[in-house]
Amino acid sequence: MSANLLDDDNVSNPSQNNSLTDLVEQQINLNVSRRSFLKSGTAFGLAGIFGVGLTGCEAFDSNEVEPVLKAPITFKPVSTSTVDSVIVPEGYVSEVLYRWGDPCVSGAPAFLKTAEQSWNAQELQAGDNHDAINFFPFKDAQENPQNDAGLLCINHEYINPEYFFPVGDENWYDNLDADMVKKMVAAHGVSVIEVSKSASGEWSVVSNSTFNRRITGYTPIEISGPAAGHDLMKTTADPQGLEALGTLNNCGAGMTPWGTYITCEENFNGYFGSDNPLFEPTDHENRYGLRAGGFGYRWHTQDPRFDIFENRNEPNRFGWVVEIDPFQPTSKPKKRTALGRFKHENAEFVLSTSKQAVVYMGCDERNEYLYKFVSDGVYDEATPSSGNDLLDSGTLYVAKLEAGETIGDNKGTGTWIPLIFNENGLTEANGFTSQADILIRARAASDRVGATMMDRPEWIAANPKKKGEVYLSCTNNNRRGSEDPATSNAIDGTTKAGSARPAVDDANPRAVNNWGHIIRWNEAGEDATATTFEWDIFAIAGNPNLADTTKHGSSNITVDNTFNSPDGLQFDPEGRLWIQSDGKYTNEGDYEGQGNNQMLVADVETGEIRRFMVGPSGCEVTGVTWTPDGTACFVDIQHPGEVAQHPNKPADIGTYPDMDAFVKNNPTAFSKWPDNDTDGRPRSATIVIRREDGGVIGT
Ligand code: FEO
Ligand code: CA
Ligand code: CA
Ligand code: CA
Repeated sequence: MSANLLDDDNVSNPSQNNSLTDLVEQQINLNVSRRSFLKSGTAFGLAGIFGVGLTGCEAFDSNEVEPVLKAPITFKPVSTSTVDSVIVPEGYVSEVLYRWGDPCVSGAPAFLKTAEQSWNAQELQAGDNHDAINFFPFKDAQENPQNDAGLLCINHEYINPEYFFPVGDENWYDNLDADMVKKMVAAHGVSVIEVSKSASGEWSVVSNSTFNRRITGYTPIEISGPAAGHDLMKTTADPQGLEALGTLNNCGAGMTPWGTYITCEENFNGYFGSDNPLFEPTDHENRYGLRAGGFGYRWHTQDPRFDIFENRNEPNRFGWVVEIDPFQPTSKPKKRTALGRFKHENAEFVLSTSKQAVVYMGCDERNEYLYKFVSDGVYDEATPSSGNDLLDSGTLYVAKLEAGETIGDNKGTGTWIPLIFNENGLTEANGFTSQADILIRARAASDRVGATMMDRPEWIAANPKKKGEVYLSCTNNNRRGSEDPATSNAIDGTTKAGSARPAVDDANPRAVNNWGHIIRWNEAGEDATATTFEWDIFAIAGNPNLADTTKHGSSNITVDNTFNSPDGLQFDPEGRLWIQSDGKYTNEGDYEGQGNNQMLVADVETGEIRRFMVGPSGCEVTGVTWTPDGTACFVDIQHPGEVAQHPNKPADIGTYPDMDAFVKNNPTAFSKWPDNDTDGRPRSATIVIRREDGGVIGT
């Protein structure tokens, strides 16, 4: 038997709702000749509606933006790279801080480079596949945030099985046992670690800190908010539906002003499966991508909790935003069900002018939706406890984007549609039974109200220097506008509900959106609680190395900053927008000259984008966070040496167990990062980047 682990490469949306592609086509029909940056004679859909022109056209209309540098970017950009190390600009250093398997909790055993540690050791050590990260500074006696000590919260999204188990005669795929599954579950979740800076400027983990904590797929977590106790949340192990076991596939995150971490459960569906031939997914299960085989991890064969036939409601207890108080190491995390259940990427927190909590969230799958939550109550900064249960009651909205009726301002319009029981068709007659039901089935509710399908919404970042302005990475979408809608979206060659998409329109130059783009919206009245907005596109990624100019992207994409698949997106304290890529690193074809995944920084006023960092071979660059003074930047490097997509992978090791066997004999064939030890193996890790002169990063 051989197989590959599936990833997030599926589509579950069967609705006939509008997609961004449709909007672009509408906009072209509204107006075909208005913009100087449209290439003459060519219908450039994505450029037409958006704020940024295409390369090779009359560049970026400088009359439209004030070139005000709120946060000057002056470092010398780095080139693309295909080498197996972290590349930073001249005058900067990067240091490894916290790797998969490093001790987390005080007294944890050291990592064994053979990966022979047991599941109970793994529970005390850093998890795998570092993703989101946030720095929570300690405060001094005057309540001033410190720049040399604090807590880091780090997500551990998933595991790379080919590196995760020791070398031996057996392989994980054919010989899976209960302890192996426990070890995998224990490597998920979140790390909380105390870190501090030495007099010489180097950062390290405070190994005996009582704040250090691992939250895993086994940690008891309170189910909080409107869906708590709902029938769909009840299991045999938890008949009240009030306490879930663990958090899984923690991808992006966010932080609140009351000092908590809000971590997001993304591709939870992949961990569930069933070998029972009677298992047939319901419409609800199909809509969340649940299927007998899962993503191929087969945890259900060793732990009935993950058997979807045995525990039909267990998957309903995942797909939430989980709030963790890192300063209270014994506190119980809470799944905040008011924020809806879907494949959460990150949770970008904004305190509105009215002091309501606003949380922007994307559902990362092709043709899924953009959401925001607005709390009923308000946060009083003088009373941090006023944030305690603020995320338990409020309104969940989903975005509907329209092509602009008037195009003089070159912007589309949008509406936030509330997902409220008995409104907008979310009624019993249409199959919705309560507010809790709507939150648990947020995707179905969004289908019903006509939300706009997006090209895989990844991270969202709110501009700290411009109220109501928010950015979203639409990482890529190779499944829209297919000419073969019957099969184009199928996973594993099967045709299933949700696979159909409208046929491609010749007017759309990005029918295959290989490089992704970054969309931006401005809330009406600069008010984060507004129900309408205007939108445009900040950057259309592309590859100006290619001869085909239709693949070049917007005018702010150049041969010097080209990248594909924007994913991580964060503003730093001074208002620079940092962009992290999770793209193809084959460095050939459409990705020629783009090299390894990377991190760039943008001036959102001028549109300029500069490459700041390139990661090691086969990695994805994930979360980023800063000390309050911006002099230290913590970045996560996920899955260095990733085998499945690696350009150097021999053709005959495309699946397990062949891939597994190959890696066991050659554990550093694709990357030695970060240990540079030929007897070791690649390890996801948090790094620290700082300037040699101690200055602010990115200036
Ligand atoms: Fe975990 Fe959508 O990235
Ligand atoms: Ca991501
Ligand atoms: Ca991604
Ligand atoms: Ca990832």
